[in-house]
Amino acid sequence: MVSGAELSPDRALANSPPSGAKSSLWEGPGMNILLLGGGGREHALAWKLAQSRLLEGGSKLFAAPGNPGIAEHATCFDMDTTDHELVIAFCEQERIGLVVIGPEGPLVDGLADSLRAEGIAVFGPSRAAAQLEGSKGFTKDLCRRHGIPTAAYVRAASAAEALAALDGFAAPYVLKADGLAAGKGVVIAPDRAAAEAAIGDIFAGAFGAAGASLVIEEFMDGEEVSVFALADGPTVLPFGTAQDHKRVGDRDTGPNTGGMGAYSPAAVLTADLHAQVLRRIIVPTIEAMVAEGAPYSGVLYAGIMLTAQGPRLVEYNCRFGDPEAQVLMMRLDGDLGEYLLACAENRLAAMPPARFSRDAALTVVVAARGYPGTPERGGAIGGIAAAEATGAKVFHAGTGFDETGALVATGGRVLAVTATGASVAEAQARAYRAVDALDFPTGFCRRDIGWREVARAEGGAG
Ligand code: AMP
Ligand code: GLY
Repeated sequence: MVSGAELSPDRALANSPPSGAKSSLWEGPGMNILLLGGGGREHALAWKLAQSRLLEGGSKLFAAPGNPGIAEHATCFDMDTTDHELVIAFCEQERIGLVVIGPEGPLVDGLADSLRAEGIAVFGPSRAAAQLEGSKGFTKDLCRRHGIPTAAYVRAASAAEALAALDGFAAPYVLKADGLAAGKGVVIAPDRAAAEAAIGDIFAGAFGAAGASLVIEEFMDGEEVSVFALADGPTVLPFGTAQDHKRVGDRDTGPNTGGMGAYSPAAVLTADLHAQVLRRIIVPTIEAMVAEGAPYSGVLYAGIMLTAQGPRLVEYNCRFGDPEAQVLMMRLDGDLGEYLLACAENRLAAMPPARFSRDAALTVVVAARGYPGTPERGGAIGGIAAAEATGAKVFHAGTGFDETGALVATGGRVLAVTATGASVAEAQARAYRAVDALDFPTGFCRRDIGWREVARAEGGAG
């Protein structure tokens, strides 16, 4: 936890709460905060931000668009965030001291640049730095220039180039649309015929503009972990670890999704492996971004494969994971607002290391029938209070109110039911107890989130 003494008096003055609002216990820099996004990740961020000292003294949390869960902590409203002038005008009108950008879209679109240009503190990277997520080819080239361990690859700008490049690889073939494709731009083709078909599909527009160019890369074998770090130019501050389950079905079968569940910490990432990831992958990347004139500010989310040759980068994201944020926020002991503001104001070097609870956290995503295809919309959701009475936290991901004011499903991933425990097994048991208290007939979930960790613990015990 950061003490008031560690904040300079100048900043406290510059950011004093609106006149009339008086901080009762703490004379820190209360400020209004704007959170952009409306999924489970943003509900977790809103829930944690609502506990921040930054919001003391009558300061307000706004969220656009938010969702019914976020509305318990924030004033939610609709705003077209592609209209940067509109966002700036809102920030000026409401005296917003910090903007937190949840999803990657507005970051890749340069919203953080527009806000910074107006002197508004913003948590999230510039358009140039967000290329780490926005262009897979950009990241691969950066890794190559700076010796950062990742899969061997070739970039291809046409189907003919891609087909010719296949000769340099062996099955299974990994094909990635270069741009943002809502988590769906990766094809792992088991054989050459499937790879050729996928190349045809991608250049025919299967992933829209994201597939105008392609990365073909070596398949990496191993277990995947998610490693988070805050960065503000040169400083890197480790911010937790997690593992998620991307496939829709139990035992990791079926199509890929945005994530059907996650747990934290990633115990498979020993302290030594975590240090290697920081030293060989994350720190060199942050240094490379400074050296290349696109310093990174925000959270860097590294997808890492633990291979027989050591940790290697799978991909970067320029935002918190969803549902990884749900488990990270459940374990974060410190003040989220303090860390995000320090990051936005390039003061990370003065912050203490982020502390996370020793407990494990596990989240089960409850999705609407049909996901990850076309989800069934409008299904009634009940039992959230009963689920939370078990001690779990139910984050809203794709919910809304119908005409009668009843809570209904509005998206693919609808809820993220999150619990903590002394072990992943205990957190898992608690999360499923809460899931079973829900009344959401058109929803479904995986029943095995955390299975690797539970099996490891059982193996270790027996
Ligand atoms: P991405 O969208 O880059 O996260 O890719 C989606 C998933 O595909 C990753 O989470 C991995 O499980 C898998 N994947 C991506 N690249 C590779 C690779 N080079 N080798 C093996 N699996 C990969
Ligand atoms: N859960 C994966 C992601 O947020 O990209």
